[in-house]
Amino acid sequence: MEFNLNRRSFVKGAAATAAFLPSFNILHAEDATIGPKDDQINVGLIGFGKEARVLSESLVRIPGVRVRAVCDIWKFQCQQAKAFFKGYGMDVKSYEDYREMLEKEDKNIDAVVIATPDWMHCEHTCACLRAGKHVYCEKEMSNKLEQAAEMCRVQKETGKLLQIGHQRRSNPRYRHCFENIVPNMLGRVTTAYAQWNRTLAPFFTYKKPPKQEILTKYGYENAEQYLNWRWFYKYGGGSMVDLGSHQIDLFIWAWGVPPSSVRAVGGKDAFNPPRMAYDRMYCIYEFKMPDGTKNEAIYQVISSNSRGGFYEQFMGMNASLTIAEISARGNTVQRELREGGLSDAEWQKFIDKGWILPNEGDKIKKEVTKDIAVDTRISVQANGNALAVTMNKPAHMPHLENFFAACRHGTPLNCPCELAYESAVAVLAANVSADRGEVYRFKPEEFKVPPRPAAPAAPAVPAPKA
Ligand SMILES: NC(=O)c1ccc[n+]([C@@H]2O[C@H](COP(=O)([O-])OP(=O)(O)OC[C@H]3O[C@@H](n4cnc5c(N)ncnc54)[C@H](O)[C@@H]3O)[C@@H](O)[C@H]2O)c1
Repeated sequence: MEFNLNRRSFVKGAAATAAFLPSFNILHAEDATIGPKDDQINVGLIGFGKEARVLSESLVRIPGVRVRAVCDIWKFQCQQAKAFFKGYGMDVKSYEDYREMLEKEDKNIDAVVIATPDWMHCEHTCACLRAGKHVYCEKEMSNKLEQAAEMCRVQKETGKLLQIGHQRRSNPRYRHCFENIVPNMLGRVTTAYAQWNRTLAPFFTYKKPPKQEILTKYGYENAEQYLNWRWFYKYGGGSMVDLGSHQIDLFIWAWGVPPSSVRAVGGKDAFNPPRMAYDRMYCIYEFKMPDGTKNEAIYQVISSNSRGGFYEQFMGMNASLTIAEISARGNTVQRELREGGLSDAEWQKFIDKGWILPNEGDKIKKEVTKDIAVDTRISVQANGNALAVTMNKPAHMPHLENFFAACRHGTPLNCPCELAYESAVAVLAANVSADRGEVYRFKPEEFKVPPRPAAPAAPAVPAPKA
């Protein structure tokens, strides 16, 4: 495991990183500052839209990583990329077509980071793997399951690394929760809940999108679809694939098994004109646990209202965890104050272990509410204790670091493609359930990558005439 979650050593590491932050833009001024030359990893980027900009903020902070080339079909994005990396002392070549980038930069690139719309992930990833490059590809692996499967097959055939961008899998706060808190503090967790509520504008527009001939050349029907690709099934998978993909992955991680069924209901008409893909969705996933019990995860994603924002909750007999990528939205473990629940002394042990921080407010609140505890209709609520693990880095940085560590030292990836494939199966099935208006029941074998479908049989050779 890359992160040592022993609190003292983690805090030491985080402090060391934090100490670098104010001066990070000089990190790459000279190779001498980033270690031996052969330790340097040269990177190509495919797609320089909103997410690639976020990833780039991390890339420039990771010692030993140099971005050499960028590809984007929109010239404007290439110019932006060149200007951005120039600010960090990196002279980046730009390309419109990834094939040309792979050909011309073959000797200059060790790894490729892909942040194009979901429908291009398979083509871009497979080409890069076959060209001998390690790949970090953004989630969702693909909006088509067969393409996600093909990415896994090509990874296996080429032996190159393929990390999928479910960045919470490397976030030390989430790792602390799923390695320590959920299995050891919460008691039996029957119920999880997650939501991502946000307000989106109607379709994005841009004064000068790429010319139609470029869009046509790369498969986009028009600028509206190109700029708003998430809402068209050809290119994306709506709100569930966009945001649900992050959070459904967490249910699977926390419980260690993929779901056994999903029932989803969705709507497409929050905006006018209505979207092709669901703008909102409400799901119940069931998980059959190895010990024969069953757990449920409730999931909601809304694009027209931001009430409550985004977070995940795991509700156990002894305590509940509320966590979010932004700690201000979720960072607590809250004890259940019930008969037979964890005693003060048992709770204190978790504080002593350095898993949660002390919380004086908990004691005060219990005293104030003691009298009403006799009313069995009311559950007395404890205040939450904050998680004792923090992260002082941009959200995507640990996941990229984990990828580059694997490239350099062969250490394990936190989100290899087979893991991401499981969550793609679970996420894409929600759209199917909502379309059909019925429960989608998974077969366990669906979560394994199937063999490549046989090529259509060649037409039978006509028998020679006698
Ligand atoms: N991990 C996360 O937290 C997170 C957050 C947001 C987006 N994402 C993912 O990142 C990816 C990109 O999302 P975005 O929000 O940046 O989208 P975007 O539309 O802002 O950017 C996509 C970029 O890809 C370029 N592009 C499109 N087709 C291309 C092609 N064939 N070749 C080269 N470039 C091409 C576009 O010109 C654009 O610049 C998606 O897969 C999305 O799901 C992940």
